[in-house]
Amino acid sequence: MSRGGIGATLRGTGLEVPEKVVTNADFEKFIDTTDEWITTRTGIKERRMCEEGQNTADLAAGAGTRALEEAGIDPLDLDVIVLSTATPDHLLPSTSCEAQALMGAHNAVAFDVSAACAGWLYGVKIADGFLRSDGFETILVIGAEKMSAIIDYTDRTTCVLFGDGAGAALFGRSGENGSSILSTHMQTDGRLAELLWRPAGGAARPSTEETRAERMEYVRQEGREVFKNAVLQMDTSSRIALHRAGLTIDDIDLVVPHQANIRIIEGVAKRLGVEMDRVYVNIDRYGNTSSASIPIGLDEVRKRELVGEGATILMTAFGGGLAWGSMVFRL
Ligand code: UT7
Repeated sequence: MSRGGIGATLRGTGLEVPEKVVTNADFEKFIDTTDEWITTRTGIKERRMCEEGQNTADLAAGAGTRALEEAGIDPLDLDVIVLSTATPDHLLPSTSCEAQALMGAHNAVAFDVSAACAGWLYGVKIADGFLRSDGFETILVIGAEKMSAIIDYTDRTTCVLFGDGAGAALFGRSGENGSSILSTHMQTDGRLAELLWRPAGGAARPSTEETRAERMEYVRQEGREVFKNAVLQMDTSSRIALHRAGLTIDDIDLVVPHQANIRIIEGVAKRLGVEMDRVYVNIDRYGNTSSASIPIGLDEVRKRELVGEGATILMTAFGGGLAWGSMVFRL
């Protein structure tokens, strides 16, 4: 737990989503689905999709540059880039290196974190640790995903869910009473890894003609099981984080949850005892952008002035790993 002190304070945010919009009606043209099913079962109306040649690093650099601009930080003065992604452009080097080059942040240390949809929150925790050690003053934490690159567009149970996008936040050192992380909770259960994974294409099972014929390089998900775990763990994790901050849900100005399914968000809100008017939802416009969803939401709530300086927000995420976590943050 950390209150005030020298940890991470928020100085700027940014987002970047591709211009191309894919609506539910577009899916009706090539798979057996309907706008009605997608809307009622997920809350998604449309999502963004990268154009040919537009990659995770491009989205990351766009969002990161906007966060730097808002904070008034020259890219050359940036100390660290932490990039969360489940869709790295290359397996080597990390996508953060490519985003660093695009942003012109040539003096920064750059590396990726891999914790699927929870990855951006894990990245913020890492940033907080860096800021408490010597010599690091400015850290950019980016969540960037080109989900369209790893989705099986013949599988109606997954392809309608995901979208491409990136969000970023620039953190500096907080003063004694400045904005900061008030508490966190994080947990992972690798025993459930195969509920949401890509069976082939990594070192354990490299891509072959056979794996490609089985479409094993694409995301596979046991939707119902992931759903149940998501509601349970996001609720539990949020409660632990609130308890560690010495707060209750009534002290939270806005919940900014991971956007995987409107029914998951509503289920978590109900369990936590918070009305939906204090829960931010943008899944209708972006679908599930994995680790980009919370920083995209954070940028929107700040830019739309739904919350201001001094507000207390609860962020909570759940995804592949299975990995999840929550953070109470004072803006
Ligand atoms: O961010 C990472 C974490 N991911 C999540 O949190 C996602 C969690 N899971 C979910 O959001 C939901 O489980 C889904 C949206 C994936 C599926 O919704 P569901 O209400 O759990 O549906 P289901 O899987 O139980 O499927 C119900 C029916 C099935 O048909 P039958 O077997 O009952 O005849 C599916 O084949 O709906 C069918 N179905 C579809 N129908 C039309 C599945 N996908 C579609 C589709 N269009 N796109």
